[in-house]
Amino acid sequence: MSEPIIAGVDGSRGALAAVLWAADDAARRGCDLRIVHVEEPLLHGGQPYERSADDPVRREGERLLAEAAAMVAESRPNLHTSTELLFGDPDEILRAQAAEAAVIVVGSRGIGGFTGLLLGSVSLGLAGHAPGPVVVVRGTPAVVQGEIVAGFDPEDAVHPALDYAFEEAQARGARLWVVHAWDLPSSRVSAAFPLDLEFIAQARQKHVHDMLSPWLNRYPGVIVTESVFRGNPIAALCETSAHADLVVVGSRGRGVIRSAMLGSVSHGVLHYASGPVAVVRPRA
Ligand SMILES: Nc1ncnc2c1ncn2[C@@H]1O[C@H](COP(=O)(O)OP(=O)(O)OP(=O)(O)O)[C@@H](O)[C@H]1O
Ligand SMILES: [Mg+2]
Repeated sequence: MSEPIIAGVDGSRGALAAVLWAADDAARRGCDLRIVHVEEPLLHGGQPYERSADDPVRREGERLLAEAAAMVAESRPNLHTSTELLFGDPDEILRAQAAEAAVIVVGSRGIGGFTGLLLGSVSLGLAGHAPGPVVVVRGTPAVVQGEIVAGFDPEDAVHPALDYAFEEAQARGARLWVVHAWDLPSSRVSAAFPLDLEFIAQARQKHVHDMLSPWLNRYPGVIVTESVFRGNPIAALCETSAHADLVVVGSRGRGVIRSAMLGSVSHGVLHYASGPVAVVRPRA
């Protein structure tokens, strides 16, 4: 039995969009869907408040789980769906759930935050720490494009995002657009030393292609386009993914903030991509 796809709900519309995305993905992958809601503990003078069976907060948690499950039952009556009400810190509990999931799916925003906030703390925390693929859903795309974009840096030590992107493209019968953006360390370098930019670009293109060959061999059915751009990777990925069904990135690269759990590219794409984003961290 494969691991379930898990979706987190908090009563927001963003979370319901995440549940629908997760239900479609579970149907495609032939796995179960688990919908979870985490209720934060209420402290009374530093002591956790014990919740009885008819506690209004517990009842509300059960109600919003039932609402999400009913929505799935309507659109996907054959999908095996379960719900779970958990108590604790949402960030911590959902991270533990991610370890048991094939994929964990959340909305970009929930019921908290403020108008204009692009990403809530729960989705950011999960993307920054959870093992395996975390999908952050922003809106529900009106039409299926049949295309997935994957950000690729051949210099990264491991490529769990590429594994996920190829798997997902295969499951969907979608095309995969692998995007690599590069730039010179600073424009002063090119001013001081005349560089053969065409030569560098071609060498990059070849390096990307060579590094991709194990995946191209493993997934012969996936139609792949390789694009190498000179410029900012966040802009390249947000632009290329504007009409894609999903953009997939690794959790962090080799950027300057080595202690950060989320690289600047994944952080930027999570904030500015117009559609769903998968951030994929290696499993322990
Ligand atoms: N308590 C929770 N239980 C389960 N899933 C949750 C919970 N809270 C948030 N989520 C999931 O995370 C997504 C984003 O919500 P998040 O809480 O990060 O944003 P927010 O509420 O807008 O801002 P804030 O950081 O102020 O809470 C939701 O759409 C939902 O999928
Ligand atoms: Mg919230």
